[in-house]
Amino acid sequence: MGEPLNIGIIGCGAIVAQYLQTLPSLPAVRLHAVADLDFSRAQAVAAGQDGVKALSVDELLADPAVDTVLNLTIPAAHAEVALRAIAAGKHIYGEKPLAATTAEARTVLERAAAAGVRVGCAPDTVLGTGIQTARHAIDAGVIGRPIAATATMVTPGHERWHPNPDFYYVPGGGPLLDMGPYYVTALVTLLGPVTSVIGAASHLRTQRIIGAGPRAGEAIPVAVDTHVTGVLVHESGALSTLVMSFDAVQTRAANIEVHGERASMSVPDPNWFDGEVSVSRLDDRDRGWEVLPDSAGYIGAGRGYGLADMAMTAPGEQHRANGELAFHVLDVMESLLVSAQSGASVPVGSTAARPAGVPLTSLAEEPAGARPAN
Ligand SMILES: NC(=O)c1ccc[n+]([C@@H]2O[C@H](COP(=O)([O-])OP(=O)(O)OC[C@H]3O[C@@H](n4cnc5c(N)ncnc54)[C@H](O)[C@@H]3O)[C@@H](O)[C@H]2O)c1
Repeated sequence: MGEPLNIGIIGCGAIVAQYLQTLPSLPAVRLHAVADLDFSRAQAVAAGQDGVKALSVDELLADPAVDTVLNLTIPAAHAEVALRAIAAGKHIYGEKPLAATTAEARTVLERAAAAGVRVGCAPDTVLGTGIQTARHAIDAGVIGRPIAATATMVTPGHERWHPNPDFYYVPGGGPLLDMGPYYVTALVTLLGPVTSVIGAASHLRTQRIIGAGPRAGEAIPVAVDTHVTGVLVHESGALSTLVMSFDAVQTRAANIEVHGERASMSVPDPNWFDGEVSVSRLDDRDRGWEVLPDSAGYIGAGRGYGLADMAMTAPGEQHRANGELAFHVLDVMESLLVSAQSGASVPVGSTAARPAGVPLTSLAEEPAGARPAN
């Protein structure tokens, strides 16, 4: 492998800590600098990382040593930050969703193509052993022809723990655009692209009360639907039923189940990288659920593996957590909300190839000194 990609992070809020845990173990990337609108947040991150500089956003974008901007800002800023990074000649990899709207996201993809830079986007959880083992088993014919899937995510709301949860309740947020990327990306990974959707949506409250941090007790407005349901019609003919809610207490439903002609499959939480895949076979139903051994995916992965996967991809080849896939996922979600407004089925104009499966591999380097001397 050649030189690692130098990374500049823009956005040092709640999620940056998870990337800081992962990036140092990935030889394909090297964290060079961090920035945030609130400079003190960048300083706090840099203080804990050897050799990492805290810069202003303008300085980071002007720094020729930064190859790739890791965009960890809030959804409403994703497109603006991405467009500035592209204009500065940087590759971009961002948190989900790709942008708050497909109109913004399309501009990002067009400008990146014109500039010859890569676009990567979370979620990369689907590259872990959980979803990849499920995909590998489906592709190997374990469940027969896939007929349908269900995907369920319910929570009473992230304002209970996030210190600045405002972005979850404005366009670009809500349960669908916030958590939907994990589920819809997993469904596209497992069952292929979506050609049309029908949706319905509602909201329980017009304001939420922050439950943690310095703003605890403060009311914030709700400008989006907070319970979204729908059906995705995949190009293959399979039908996925989706329930994404910030209005429910909890559930015993599986995160994702896929039903095939010969078996049903339980798929682990797509917000995480690993977890058990199990199947119940038609010809052996009395045996109950059989856990499949991990057969594919990045072992022990964490947030940032999609960025390393992008860094390792040869020029001219498509990395897995790519912009086209993230655009299609956003298009599916936006179409669901359009359908919820109109009550009619909505065709999904975009498509995306299923990214190449991930062989069972480890990307991480053991930290120096971790291997016992012989
Ligand atoms: N919090 C989580 O657990 C979590 C998990 C997975 C993914 N994400 C995603 O990560 C992203 C960030 O979420 P978060 O929870 O860290 O949010 P946050 O509000 O805690 O942090 C966002 C940071 O971005 C900075 N910022 C905003 N606009 C900016 C701009 N234009 N230029 C520079 N900095 C800017 C803010 O000052 C803030 O420090 C979101 O897209 C979210 O969906 C969050």
